[in-house]
Amino acid sequence: MTARSVGLPTVTAAADLPASVQIWEVGARDGLQNEASIVDVATKLEFLDRLADAGLRILEATSFVHPRWVPQLADAEQVLAGLRRRQDVTYPVLVPNERGLDRALAAGVRHVAVFASATETFATRNLNRTLDEQFAMFEPVVGRARAEGLGVRGYVSMCFGDPWEGAVDPAAVVSVGRQLLDMGCSQLSLGDTIGVATPGQVETLLAGFTAAEVGPDRLAVHFHDTYGQALSNTLTALRCGVNTVDSSAGGLGGCPYAESATGNLATEDLVWMLDGLGIAHGVDLDALAATSAWMAERLGRPSPSRVVRALTG
Ligand code: HMG
Ligand code: MG
Repeated sequence: MTARSVGLPTVTAAADLPASVQIWEVGARDGLQNEASIVDVATKLEFLDRLADAGLRILEATSFVHPRWVPQLADAEQVLAGLRRRQDVTYPVLVPNERGLDRALAAGVRHVAVFASATETFATRNLNRTLDEQFAMFEPVVGRARAEGLGVRGYVSMCFGDPWEGAVDPAAVVSVGRQLLDMGCSQLSLGDTIGVATPGQVETLLAGFTAAEVGPDRLAVHFHDTYGQALSNTLTALRCGVNTVDSSAGGLGGCPYAESATGNLATEDLVWMLDGLGIAHGVDLDALAATSAWMAERLGRPSPSRVVRALTG
């Protein structure tokens, strides 16, 4: 029996899990920002189109950051101009500052995300700002975006460990998250930027947010898979009541400003688990895996996703 002939997991529901999960697909942004080569605009547009065809409804499309800082996404304007926008799909973009917001608004964007750091060192390395200065940079962005009627997400990076500072105090993460919510972000995405978290940490951090009166309905999780923990951490978050999960088609991803960051949780690996648990997600797994195999070919290396390899190998 080949792996492909298995096709789908056996469905067995488990207790204490949501009936459906909203997948926040970050492949075109987090995935492609970390590639050694720069993917051309036409390929990015086909990627986004195929992800929408596969049933994904939130596609983080690109970042309006400084083009020198992330040359892989310097074509943000061209990507937005060429995008065949679908009514039923949301296309959020990252914006660090007002200049980024101006560019995003000019490109007709309706949903933005600011991205904060829970640690001093990563704030400096990723944003060229201290921990406190990052809030001063985000405040007018969030205020103006809200006034324009845009959706605004707030990322918190280095929630579970930092390559320069080591362990990260959950109280520091909650404090950064609270400031983003108080500013006007409607959802927080908790990032394990370097993929070091384990499930007990996830439980502890989510309990910290609950104690600060931030319920799981306002939280998303964003796990990188460096140490192979992303899926177990995701399951833990689902058991704690979170039902928005960030993932990346084919397991692409990483952050050019975080040493040792590798790919995000692969969307296919997530979908396989959700299918097995009988949790609705709206994604056509075969179409998605075919898209990731196609992208892997363009990038010249196999997808790191186990499920993509099993289904398309
Ligand atoms: P800076 O050098 O401090 O910028 O960079 P500045 O404010 O001093 O401005 C300097 C010049 O850059 C000015 O031009 C600005 O106009 C221009 P000048 O007046 O000298 O001619 N400029 C811009 N140009 C275009 N677009 C802009 C922009 N901003 C300023 N948006 C900055 C500060 C924040 C811009 C820089 O640090 C930056 O772009 N950082 C982005 C880093 C990044 O994208 N990292 C990856 C995303 S985060 C991530 O992946 C983690 C996540 O996945 C979650 C997780 O995994 O944990 C989200
Ligand atoms: Mg990330």
